[in-house]
Amino acid sequence: MKPIGPKFLPALCLACLAGIFLTIPFYRIIEAHSPTGWTAPAKEKKVKNPVLNNMESRSRGQIIYMEKCAICHGFKGEGQGEMGKTLDPRLPDLTDGHMMKEMPDGEIYWKITAGKGPMPSYQKELTKNERWDLVNYIRSLAKTR
Ligand code: HEC
Repeated sequence: MKPIGPKFLPALCLACLAGIFLTIPFYRIIEAHSPTGWTAPAKEKKVKNPVLNNMESRSRGQIIYMEKCAICHGFKGEGQGEMGKTLDPRLPDLTDGHMMKEMPDGEIYWKITAGKGPMPSYQKELTKNERWDLVNYIRSLAKTR
């Protein structure tokens, strides 16, 4: 094998740089998924949403969201609520279309039911239908970026 001559070096550097720059967008997608990598058990992800996602359901969800969730998750869902701003780790961005597309209804429902860290469990506080209304409302927050 011939040693790599000086002629190949620029090409090698370019290849390395291209590699780095091509990887960055993928890292951002993985990172965007959830700051803590919180995922629901497979069984819960498969649970079907029994509440039709229509205007009535979304507006019922919106009322609950503004009352109970916006303080942390922000009025738009971007995670900049009064209390949310102070929390560590940073709150997930519920308007992130990439992240939300990966999360089936059953998973969002389970997360609202179970809670994690500073996020309380809403199993007792909200009825099943109220939690599904929230799922439908949260879906409407996501922007497709
Ligand atoms: C006290 C602050 C707080 C309140 C109130 C709160 N949350 Fe959260 N929420 C969090 C935090 C913190 C996380 C991230 C938890 C983690 O991943 O460790 C989270 C995560 C979530 C997630 C999962 C997002 C993801 O990327 O996995 C959903 C969905 C969610 N919250 C919905 C709601 C809804 C709906 C309400 C109101 C009924 C609510 N939250 C109320 C703090 C809060």
